[in-house]
Amino acid sequence: MARIGIFGAGWVGLVTGVCFAELGHDVVIRDIVPEKIEALGRGEVPFHERDVPELLERNRRRLSFTLDANDVVGCELLFVCVDTPPTYAGDADLSRVWSVIEELPPLPVRSILVMKSTVPVGTGAKVRAGLDARGLADVGYVSNPEFLSEGRAVEEFMHPDRVVVGAFEDADADPVAALYEPLATPIVRCDVNSAEMIKLAANAFLMTRISFINEIANVCEATGADVVKVAEGVGLDHRLGPHFLRAGIGYGGSCFPKDSLALKQLASNSGYHFQLLSAVIEVNELQKRRVIGKLKRHLGSLAGRKVALLGLAFKPNTDDMREAPSIVLASRLLAEGAEVRGWDPVVAGHPALGGVELVGSVVEAVQGADAAVIVTEWPDLRELAREEVRRAMATPLIVDGRNLLDPALTRAAGFAYEGIGRPMSPTDVLPETTEREFAPELNR
Ligand SMILES: NC(=O)c1ccc[n+]([C@@H]2O[C@H](COP(=O)([O-])OP(=O)(O)OC[C@H]3O[C@@H](n4cnc5c(N)ncnc54)[C@H](O)[C@@H]3O)[C@@H](O)[C@H]2O)c1
Repeated sequence: MARIGIFGAGWVGLVTGVCFAELGHDVVIRDIVPEKIEALGRGEVPFHERDVPELLERNRRRLSFTLDANDVVGCELLFVCVDTPPTYAGDADLSRVWSVIEELPPLPVRSILVMKSTVPVGTGAKVRAGLDARGLADVGYVSNPEFLSEGRAVEEFMHPDRVVVGAFEDADADPVAALYEPLATPIVRCDVNSAEMIKLAANAFLMTRISFINEIANVCEATGADVVKVAEGVGLDHRLGPHFLRAGIGYGGSCFPKDSLALKQLASNSGYHFQLLSAVIEVNELQKRRVIGKLKRHLGSLAGRKVALLGLAFKPNTDDMREAPSIVLASRLLAEGAEVRGWDPVVAGHPALGGVELVGSVVEAVQGADAAVIVTEWPDLRELAREEVRRAMATPLIVDGRNLLDPALTRAAGFAYEGIGRPMSPTDVLPETTEREFAPELNR
C-alpha cells in the first residue's frame, strides 16, 4: 500500500483521496482553506457529492487533512488536484499549480508528482523544468488527468472507462499505473504531452456533441421535428452512441466552459485557429439565452412578469454553481425587468444570484408565476406537471430547458409546454398569445 499526498481538497482532490483510502492506501490531503480542512477534520464534506461522506466516514483512520505542506513528507505519490481556472485571456491559470511546486518540502523518499488538474499541453515539461530548477530533479513527474463528473464522481473514479498515465520515464509511470490495477480498467500509457491532450480532446468532443444536438434541436423547432426522437434514432447507431446527445439549454460547470476556452487559446497561442471549437462555444452561449426568446414569445414583454427558475446548480446531484446556466438566465431575466424566484434542492444561495429570491420549495417558487423554467434536471422536477403547481401559477406555462417532462402528459395536465427542439401544440398558445407570435419560424 502506498502513502499518498494530495494537494487540493476540492471535488477531484477529495474524491481521489477518499477513493484511494477505500482501496487501502494512507492518504494525507492538504488544502489552503482552513474552513475546508477543519470541516473535513470533523468528518464533514464541504460540498454536495454523493458517496463521499460514506467513504470519508469508513476510511477515517487512513485519511488525514492538513494546511501544512510539510505533512506530505514521506508520501511516495503526490497528486496535484488544485483548481486551474481561466485567466482574463482565457488561458488556464496555473498559479495554484506553481504554488504547489514552490511549497513542496524537501522529500527524503523518492516521490512522484502526479498531475490530476487539467492543464494545457506543455505544462508537464514546464513543471519538470521547475522541479529541476528547485533542486528536485529526483522527484518524478506523471500526468494522470481526471475524467470524473460531479454527481457521479465516486462511481466514476472507481469504475473509470480508462486511466491515462503519461510520463517522461517508464519507472515513474509504473507505480501510478499500479495504483489503478484493482480497478481492472484499460490503462493508456503515453508521453506527457499526449496525456494532457487526451483530457482536453475528450472534453472538447463531449462539448461538441452537446452543441451539435442543440443545433439539431434548433432546426427541429424550425421544421417541426422532435429532437428527443431524433437523438434516440441517431444514438442507436453504434458508430455514434447515445451519450451527450440530450438537447437542452447548454453546458456549464467547472470544467467544460474553462477547458474549451483553454484549448481554444492553446491552439491559438500555437498559431492555429480551432474553428470547430469556437463554434461549439458560441452555440453554447446562444443556447442559454434561447429560453428568454421562448418566454417572450408566450408572454410578450417580460417586464414585471414572474418567472420561476427550477434547479440552479449546473447539473443535478451537485451544489456546484460554477458557470451554471441559471446564472446567465437569472441575469438576463432581471435585465428584462422580470421578477425571478429560484429553487434548488441543494443550492442555498450564490453571490451571482443577487436579485433572485431563493425559496425552499417548488410550489413556493411557482406561486403566482407566469412561467416555470426547468433549468436543472433534478429528479424531483419530474413531478412538476401536477395540479398543485398549475393552481399556484398565474399562467400555467412550463419551459422545459432539459426536456425532462413528457410533453403530452404535461399538456394533458393543463399546462402550456415548451421544451427544447420539440414540436409545439396548439394547446401551448396561452390565451393572450396571438397566432402570429406562435408561428414556428419565430421560434428562434
Ligand atoms: N470538478 C470536476 O468535475 C473535474 C473533473 C475533472 C478534472 N477537473 C480538474 O481538476 C482540477 C481541480 O478541480 P476541482 O473541481 O476539484 O477544483 P476545486 O476548486 O473544487 O478544488 C481545488 C482545491 O485546491 C485548493 N488549493 C488551491 N491551491 C492549493 C495549494 N497550493 N495547495 C493545496 N490546495 C490548494 C483550493 O483551495 C480548492 O479547495 C481542475 O484543474 C479541474 O479542471 C475537475
